[in-house]
Amino acid sequence: MRTDKAPKTPSVAMWAPPAPRVIAVTSGKGGVGKSNLVVNLGLALARQGLQVLLIDADLGLGNLDILLGLTPAYTIHDVLARRKSLAEVVVEGPEGLRILPASSGIPEMADLEPHQKLFLLNELENLGEHLDVVLIDTGAGISRNVLFFNLAAQEILVVATGEPTSITDAYALMKVLALQHGERRFRLVVNGVPHPEDGQVVYRTLLKVTERFLGEDIALDYLGVVPHDEAIGRAVLKQQPVLQIYPKAKVSRWITELALRLWASSPPTVSLSNVKFFWQRLAQTPM
Ligand SMILES: Nc1ncnc2c1ncn2[C@@H]1O[C@H](COP(=O)(O)OP(=O)(O)OP(=O)(O)O)[C@@H](O)[C@H]1O
Ligand SMILES: [Mg+2]
Repeated sequence: MRTDKAPKTPSVAMWAPPAPRVIAVTSGKGGVGKSNLVVNLGLALARQGLQVLLIDADLGLGNLDILLGLTPAYTIHDVLARRKSLAEVVVEGPEGLRILPASSGIPEMADLEPHQKLFLLNELENLGEHLDVVLIDTGAGISRNVLFFNLAAQEILVVATGEPTSITDAYALMKVLALQHGERRFRLVVNGVPHPEDGQVVYRTLLKVTERFLGEDIALDYLGVVPHDEAIGRAVLKQQPVLQIYPKAKVSRWITELALRLWASSPPTVSLSNVKFFWQRLAQTPM
């Protein structure tokens, strides 16, 4: 059921490219707000009439389903065991959101056999026909799995807070992705800071170090900020996205604006931006 009164924004669905954009939401340090951002950005985009799939790629601690109050019956494990199709595993969330849940006990995607990756590729291609955007919650850190999903996506959103540890860890993650894997473009979302202006401060700090140590061809763009708001914690307790349960909270407006900015910004490789490409890269990523 749709809880109305979302911030009034023009529909952008008519500008949607024909193929899905695949965007990884990632961080160096844990607990910076990735999963909440994925859920709420996804909802904001769905409210624009876009078809959205959320992938919970935090295979150890995945919790998108918990944030949405869902109890998925199946996981990717059932797909790999050929018991279920991917379409059967994907669960329907609020307002048409679709979620591919994580599962404990499944092998790291990085450890899958090439034929298993290709099988998943086929499964996702079928799903991809109906999608505009795929948001991947990668989990935190620089584990193989986190790197793997970042490399497989075409766009990387790095989330950091104002804490020095979060900033340092965001830099460490970008460093590995840039120097060891050739990633060149990142976008930054600053979350949980007391004032919106603090976002720019975090951005400038990270920009200085990335330009200095990772090379001049690295692009770090500032997507925006989501200030600290108690409404998020309350929404988490109620297992509903803040956009749904507190649509009038300030933070819901910030997140909606962020989602619109994200959608309006051009993906780095338009011609290749589709799910098929994502899964092909995933199948080929030698990690
Ligand atoms: N803008 C915000 N204002 C206030 N609290 C927030 C905000 N963003 C996130 N939080 C709180 O921070 C906590 C962590 O959020 P979340 O689970 O989304 O982080 P995460 O980066 O996905 O963590 P992990 O790395 O463990 O997966 C949650 O309890 C949430 O309530
Ligand atoms: Mg999380």
